[in-house]
Amino acid sequence: MLAIDNSCIVIFGASGDLTQRMLMPALYKLFTQQKLPTAFVILGVSRSTYSDQAFRDKLINNIPASAVINKQLLADFCQRIFYQSIDTANVNDYAILKDRISKLNDTFKLENNALFYMATPPSLYSVIAQHLAAHHLNNEQKGWKRLVVEKPFGYDLDSAITLDKALYQHFQEQQIYRIDHYLGKETVQNMLVLRFANSIFEPLWNGKYIDYIEVTGAEALGVEKRGGYYDGSGAMRDMLQNHLLQVIAMVAMEPPSVINADSMRDEVVKVLQCLKPLSEHDLKHNLVLGQYTESKVRGEDLSAYRAEAGVPDDSRTETYVGLKMFINNWRWNGVPFYIRTGKRMPTRVTEVVIHFKKTPHPVFSAHAPENKLIIRIQPDEGIVLGFGLKQPGSGFESQEVAMDFHYSDLKKTELLTAYERLLLDLIKGDATLFSRSDAVRACWNFVQPILDYKKRSFSLYGYASGTWGPVEAEHLLIKDGHKWRSPCKNLTDTDYCEL
Ligand code: BG6
Repeated sequence: MLAIDNSCIVIFGASGDLTQRMLMPALYKLFTQQKLPTAFVILGVSRSTYSDQAFRDKLINNIPASAVINKQLLADFCQRIFYQSIDTANVNDYAILKDRISKLNDTFKLENNALFYMATPPSLYSVIAQHLAAHHLNNEQKGWKRLVVEKPFGYDLDSAITLDKALYQHFQEQQIYRIDHYLGKETVQNMLVLRFANSIFEPLWNGKYIDYIEVTGAEALGVEKRGGYYDGSGAMRDMLQNHLLQVIAMVAMEPPSVINADSMRDEVVKVLQCLKPLSEHDLKHNLVLGQYTESKVRGEDLSAYRAEAGVPDDSRTETYVGLKMFINNWRWNGVPFYIRTGKRMPTRVTEVVIHFKKTPHPVFSAHAPENKLIIRIQPDEGIVLGFGLKQPGSGFESQEVAMDFHYSDLKKTELLTAYERLLLDLIKGDATLFSRSDAVRACWNFVQPILDYKKRSFSLYGYASGTWGPVEAEHLLIKDGHKWRSPCKNLTDTDYCEL
């Protein structure tokens, strides 16, 4: 077990949305569960001016009332929160920051350990790293110094390499933690346990027995207030390049010899480096890009993507991606992976569906039932195994039945949210669930042809908000004799479209 060291958690971008909505509630929850170190402080840093108290008040407003276990605990938590206003782009201001960290360190006995969490626009990542180093805040002689980078890690392959180079000038790879919050999800991690702790699945987990795999990352929401950011990103960079490829890595990787950061990440990168490069033919025939249009869903008028705040009227940014891809290795050669992600889909659901091959000879009926394993990442986290049994009555007709497991049935277990889990790992210095630079590059390398293709003339298909994407995406599977699953938010209510 890694120790949970006393430390100073410095959050750049402290007045921003990520800090308020995700980081602080997660840290508070960990505090209520007594998972944080005995001595710790959280130091918010950004340009806005707040007193410590004003910053605490702002945070309290964002902690849901239901999470406030008792007021005293919240007050205790607040006593560990401090705020320092600096101009993050100005190297001289880091002297003020250093001084503040040093005083907090002495007062709270933080053993000179510091976590620098960059919850800022990506353009500041290399600037912050450089300025921290200018004041020796990267120096680990007395205590550890960790740098936390939020996605996006670059904008394309070249900028990802440039970012790495800039960070490496001042921090070593083992000091850098790249957060992909999908890896913090319990159900994503469970994929490894399901595969490698059981002997019943793994022998079948290859192209000999698996026909094809579907991966869906659907969201019911649109781009909300993030139109400005999203329009420069699109679903490809926002979801596919990182979250969905990480999920695919968990599904497809080889077993690590032990579970530790090096071993795990060695296997992840190996499989990501085997993603079959997308050819011109793939870009034209195996890729569907879409954008949501206006529609009325459950009585609510939903606007078109182009009408969202911050989005140009003629935007050609994709809010949907459907892709058929392959992995060029011994285990997966020839097995199609169909992946899709989109905003304004009928429901929010992330899942992986493993479709096993049919029996070699249909003894019982021409339409043999499908053997499929549905791994539901969210919501209604769980697993369903579909298989065939005899239809009661005369004859030997088979029908599809299901066995299901829901995490909610584990009554006593409260799942840590992704940010809770990852923040805890950060403080422990466990990098297993953080993306390593070579894996990030492998992902960019894979999607780069799509980014290049988008610079040329390409087809962007409209789809009505509240539907499963453009009809062209259906054809991706239909032409191979398959069909996307239409998942519903309840895991076991399968194959219908929620209205
Ligand atoms: C983020 C994307 O990384 O992931 C968002 O920027 C997206 O656009 C979100 O909504 C999805 O995360 P989750 O955990 O809600 O599936």
